[in-house]
Amino acid sequence: MTETFIPVNTPLLDGNEAEYLAECIRTGWISSEGPFVKRFEEAMADVAGRRHGIAVTNGSVALDIAVYALGLEPGDEVIIPTFTIISCAAAVVRAGLVPVAVDCDTATWNMTIEGVEAAITPRTRAIMPVHIYGLPVDLGPILELARKRGLKVIEDAAEMHGQTYRGSPCGSFGDVSTFSFYPNKHVTTGEGGMILTDDDALADRLSGLRNLCFQPQQRFIHEELGWNARMTNLQAALGVAQVERLPRTIEIKSRIGRLYDEHLADLHCIRRPVPSTDYADNIYWVYGVVLNDDVPFDAKEAMRRLAQKGIGTRPFFWCMHEQPVLRRMGFMLSDSHPNAETIARRGFYLPSGLALTEGEIARSARALKEILA
Ligand SMILES: Cc1ncc(COP(=O)(O)O)c(C=O)c1O
Repeated sequence: MTETFIPVNTPLLDGNEAEYLAECIRTGWISSEGPFVKRFEEAMADVAGRRHGIAVTNGSVALDIAVYALGLEPGDEVIIPTFTIISCAAAVVRAGLVPVAVDCDTATWNMTIEGVEAAITPRTRAIMPVHIYGLPVDLGPILELARKRGLKVIEDAAEMHGQTYRGSPCGSFGDVSTFSFYPNKHVTTGEGGMILTDDDALADRLSGLRNLCFQPQQRFIHEELGWNARMTNLQAALGVAQVERLPRTIEIKSRIGRLYDEHLADLHCIRRPVPSTDYADNIYWVYGVVLNDDVPFDAKEAMRRLAQKGIGTRPFFWCMHEQPVLRRMGFMLSDSHPNAETIARRGFYLPSGLALTEGEIARSARALKEILA
């Protein structure tokens, strides 16, 4: 008997999503002018403990606009983790700035204060902490360093809706923070993103940049180039319904993580996610595993074997300092970040979607044990 394929992600849309979408259709409000956009911005600002939320079309453009809006000078350096998505480096490069990559911690997979301190130069102007896969960056010392040196901080909380750092919400730190609402996120709008800040003037600037820098008095005369990154009312309607169920979402994800931990406790040839640190409990946005050195193959081969057993997986991020496009531009040419290089080659994540059943978790864990036996 062939078993069904278990996808790596499955969103849950069983709250008020359909009702709110129907309201958009019934009222004719489908564009970015509709009332759900403001409601969603306020709801996410509340989740993140921020004064302002500016909804945009995805988490990548949220970073583009956030970095650009800080008004740094061409050639200024921004410290980013090498273990992250390309969006982080792309936002820095598109703003005319220089990405400086730092290695990650072997256990939490996040950037560290030691890495950041070692990467500071006289040209450093900003730091972009990016929370990876379920545990936040240990932000305290990084924020303190930024404060002392007058550096800007862009907090990429794309994966971290509903997570906290020492009791304060992720997305509440730094000058500006960003979220993604892609379907694998704890809050999804299909595609979508948000930029958040407590700074009133910066919020105004971010809203202008999101909306082509139209001017209130003379709409089609522009002093600056912006983006059309407006979120539609349809997307925001989904978002409002998703935020309503965020606490349950976090509970489900945490439970998925705990169940995988139980099933995989006796599998000693992998590294599992750290369940908690002194500043946060893991919320398992995704359940990642890293193959130990004694496994005679890499993540790619493990994923191929799991696919044959009907288990969907995703590789870990590929390091920024190893990206052909960035290297061709001359960035990070002499970098070496062994921790991130290792997990990029030996790490992948198991099915982690919200609709995952206990049976599917057990089957995925069993399949992993079988391919590693
Ligand atoms: C850490 C991080 N930053 C940014 C993004 C980009 O978000 P989007 O896919 O909405 O463009 C993602 C997407 O998964 C992400 O994981």
